[in-house]
Amino acid sequence: MVSIGSKKLRIRPAREQDLPDLLSLEIRAFEDGALSRRSFRRFLTGTGAVLLVATQERMFAGYALVLFRPRSPIARLYSLAVTDPAARRGVGVGLISAVEGIARRRRCKVLRIDIPQKHAAGAACCRKAGFQELDDAARRKKGMIQLEKPLYKIVRS
Ligand SMILES: CC(C)(COP(=O)(O)OP(=O)(O)OC[C@H]1O[C@@H](n2cnc3c(N)ncnc32)[C@H](O)[C@@H]1OP(=O)(O)O)[C@@H](O)C(=O)NCCC(=O)NCCS
Repeated sequence: MVSIGSKKLRIRPAREQDLPDLLSLEIRAFEDGALSRRSFRRFLTGTGAVLLVATQERMFAGYALVLFRPRSPIARLYSLAVTDPAARRGVGVGLISAVEGIARRRRCKVLRIDIPQKHAAGAACCRKAGFQELDDAARRKKGMIQLEKPLYKIVRS
């Protein structure tokens, strides 16, 4: 549990009852690439995915979805969205921080995200959370950017 201003932010694994909130936020946030009810349900139970939900004072505030591949050191932050009433209160960064903790526990070395360039708020949120953009002109031509965050500091002796 994290306190942001006067409101407590709680982040927990998503459950079946969250599906209506997840779907309505998804449609608002990503009209062109929204995850379906079926996809969300699959991510609720799949071993290669962790779906987290943020709540503030019991109100659904947002979600993050992170994907893992067996033996891969890269965790992929596949999706992140926050409801309008909860926006700009640190929920996005809080969700990323929770995702980082899970990825570290799974011994991943890097957290990566692909974002359409038009989602400027998403990129800004990731930068605030410590991500850096990778230099990838081919991706940029397709209207995408890729950002990543190392999960361990490199200690030089
Ligand atoms: C991106 C998103 C998740 C941010 O959630 P949030 O809880 O409002 O973000 P935070 O409060 O943690 O903000 C962290 C930083 O992100 C940036 N940011 C957030 N919303 C922003 C906006 N609308 N415009 C510009 N920068 C924004 C700011 O740098 C902010 O720090 P600041 O408030 O100190 O200036 C939310 O705006 C959203 O759901 N957007 C639509 C979906 C999306 O683009 N998802 C990301 C790609 S998958």
